[in-house]
Amino acid sequence: MGILSVKDLVITFETPEGLGRAVDGISFELEVNETLGIVGESGCGKTVTALSILRLLSEPPGKIESGEIIFEGNDILSMNNKDLRKLRGNKIAMIFQEPMTALNPVFTIGSQVGEVFQIHENLSKKEAREKAIEMLKQVGIPDPEVRVDSYPHQLSGGMRQRAMIAMALSLSPSILIADEPTTALDVTVQAQILELMDRLKESFDTAIILITHDLGVVAENAQRVVVMYAGKVVEDGKVEDIFNNPSHPYTQCLIASIPTVSGNGKEKLQEIPGIVPPLHDRPSGCAFHPRCPKVIDECKTTEPALYKISETHHSACLLLR
Ligand SMILES: Nc1ncnc2c1ncn2[C@@H]1O[C@H](COP(=O)(O)OP(=O)(O)O)[C@@H](O)[C@H]1O
Ligand SMILES: [Mg+2]
Repeated sequence: MGILSVKDLVITFETPEGLGRAVDGISFELEVNETLGIVGESGCGKTVTALSILRLLSEPPGKIESGEIIFEGNDILSMNNKDLRKLRGNKIAMIFQEPMTALNPVFTIGSQVGEVFQIHENLSKKEAREKAIEMLKQVGIPDPEVRVDSYPHQLSGGMRQRAMIAMALSLSPSILIADEPTTALDVTVQAQILELMDRLKESFDTAIILITHDLGVVAENAQRVVVMYAGKVVEDGKVEDIFNNPSHPYTQCLIASIPTVSGNGKEKLQEIPGIVPPLHDRPSGCAFHPRCPKVIDECKTTEPALYKISETHHSACLLLR
């Protein structure tokens, strides 16, 4: 039993073209002290899954139709507002791709990190400032005694992301959800932030859900991986299962399209032809069949289940029945 269990989660959106399933019956477990990577192209349902775990999905237009999200024995989907505030305050924290959306531009970094301590630990302003400096130091912000008085726009993208991580971790949450935390950063800074998260996971004993469209990012930073396509889990397994024995054609395509680092940045090897189908136009059978290099006739009509490859590894491809 993991620290967080998502079971048969279904999330719909009302769109002008009709009701569509952004998340279509996904299940996964987060284990204590692990980093779980959730991977898939843009539009696969990663962010709405993350938002639902914190009950931050805007309803409407979204709706959590069914499923369970069990944390510490309780279903987050049936919590009242008081419990939800507690959950978001110091149990589960989330960081985003663009820290500017989470940081308030008119307050200093120090007052924003310190505020968390003032509110939740009843510290004085002075004590909170000291704690803030300590946190900024922990996340590797140079000259924290000076930076504590900087405004968000005075920091680089990488430093802002570090400040947001400091805020998220200041109450030692049991779970950190990081939604594309490094997508806006250049390769070098990206590696530093991922390394920082890994280090903090150990020192704060935090389990991490690392969401990314880039399978390369999870290769070195996750212990287990969930691959999503069009709102479904198409493959899951230990990171070795996924990279040494990728079993779903979608995962194989994602691996082939991992950007390689070249002289002056990232280069795509191979794009997967086609696009993730929009909500109102999901293909019959296996949703990946129109793009799949290994498609057989039956894929167009029969929806695959998640078949067992090994104790730790599952894949939703008819070829593996
Ligand atoms: N507010 C919304 N209204 C309508 N559709 C939405 C809304 N938010 C997300 N969706 C749709 O839900 C699907 C999943 O979106 P999202 O979770 O953001 O994907 P990802 O994070 O994997 O890129 C997409 O098809 C997206 O268009
Ligand atoms: Mg997203």
